[in-house]
Amino acid sequence: MTTTCNVALFGQKFMGRAHSNAYMKAGRFFNVPIQPVMHTIVGIDLISLAPFADRWGWKKYSTSWKEVVKDSAIDLVDVSTPNYMHAEQSIAALSAGKHVACEKPLATTLKEARMMRNAAARARKSRTFVWFNYRRCPAVALAYQLVREGRLGRLYHIRAQFLQDWAGPEAPLTWRFQKKYAGSGAHGDLNAHIIDLARFITGEEFTEICGAVSETFISEREVLTPPSKTGGRTRARRRKPAVGKSDVDDCVLFFAKTNKGTIASFEASRLATGHRVTNTIEINGEHGAVRFSFEDMNTLWFYDHTEERRLAGWRKILCTAARVHPYAGAWWPEGHGISYEHTFVNMAAEMMAVLAGDESILPIPDFADAYETQRVLEAAMLAAKHRAAVRLTEVK
Ligand SMILES: NC(=O)c1ccc[n+]([C@@H]2O[C@H](COP(=O)([O-])OP(=O)(O)OC[C@H]3O[C@@H](n4cnc5c(N)ncnc54)[C@H](O)[C@@H]3O)[C@@H](O)[C@H]2O)c1
Repeated sequence: MTTTCNVALFGQKFMGRAHSNAYMKAGRFFNVPIQPVMHTIVGIDLISLAPFADRWGWKKYSTSWKEVVKDSAIDLVDVSTPNYMHAEQSIAALSAGKHVACEKPLATTLKEARMMRNAAARARKSRTFVWFNYRRCPAVALAYQLVREGRLGRLYHIRAQFLQDWAGPEAPLTWRFQKKYAGSGAHGDLNAHIIDLARFITGEEFTEICGAVSETFISEREVLTPPSKTGGRTRARRRKPAVGKSDVDDCVLFFAKTNKGTIASFEASRLATGHRVTNTIEINGEHGAVRFSFEDMNTLWFYDHTEERRLAGWRKILCTAARVHPYAGAWWPEGHGISYEHTFVNMAAEMMAVLAGDESILPIPDFADAYETQRVLEAAMLAAKHRAAVRLTEVK
């Protein structure tokens, strides 16, 4: 069995840094069965590529993903480009026999996501992964375990929010505000994460979107030079800045029902003034409840409804105990928390475990799994558009 995995990473900005850091650290903090090797970094900005490769320890760099995808030395292609590139790059990598790790949301449309799912199913020797990294928070993994152990009993409610406030009128027209590049706005960016969290923790599948509302508050934004799809932030030096259309949602709220009769509410916004990364999920069941909030990510709140009522109350569990809390043993002494970056390191290490045939780890979403999240996204958009309930059986 090979003991190394040569990685080619497409994208060198926000996720480019997060994933570079993950591949760099996975084999140092975890006993990985296969070592990720930082082989080639791919971007479109040649000037910054060489320093990026040098700084993060990538052996090679390239501006041609089409050449790199065919390189026989590459084992795993990591697609961390804007959403509109995910399908083409992932399918090309699968066709070339590579494993693929793709960022979320899986694609800009359900049609593209379906093509990706089908390509993954055809590529039997390839494994696919989707970077729903919040599954890799120790507190989220503990919530998953508690639900599986029946500590919450039958579930009644899922209440999830992902709120940010960085997309005010001053935010320029990057790819994230253009449907052709992003697919949607806060919905695919943020609701995708909390839909995945809800499906992961509960193990239930959504069967109906009961109602939804989508709003675009800011429909024009300042255009950047050079072209906005690079994600660059250099403003044009003009007296009167050019403006372009932002045609994605700024916020989407929806209600849903699962196959077990649990009811759920979801809210995603990038204009929730005062919120930075309020990524929260609460699940209430017959015997107990759990609550997670990313800004306090080392903590899981647990309510045990079987306790004597006189003493019952929300219990704050610091998920840093090496032998009992998922991932904690790989990091620091008890009480010393981890952060956002560690979720990616945890996932990179577990991707290597999966490639070595270890199926004992907590599920990592593959393309088939992420396709189910994309169906929920699509159904919610349809529900908002038609102001009507949408059954998931109508969305395939
Ligand atoms: N999991 C998370 O928490 C999380 C957070 C942020 C973004 N994301 C996802 O990661 C992806 C990238 O987002 P980002 O914030 O890093 O974007 P970004 O704008 O910061 O970076 C995009 C990168 O892609 C490169 N790129 C664009 N077109 C390319 C091409 N044809 N070939 C190669 N490289 C190309 C750009 O040069 C840039 O380096 C998106 O799908 C986004 O939804 C996930």
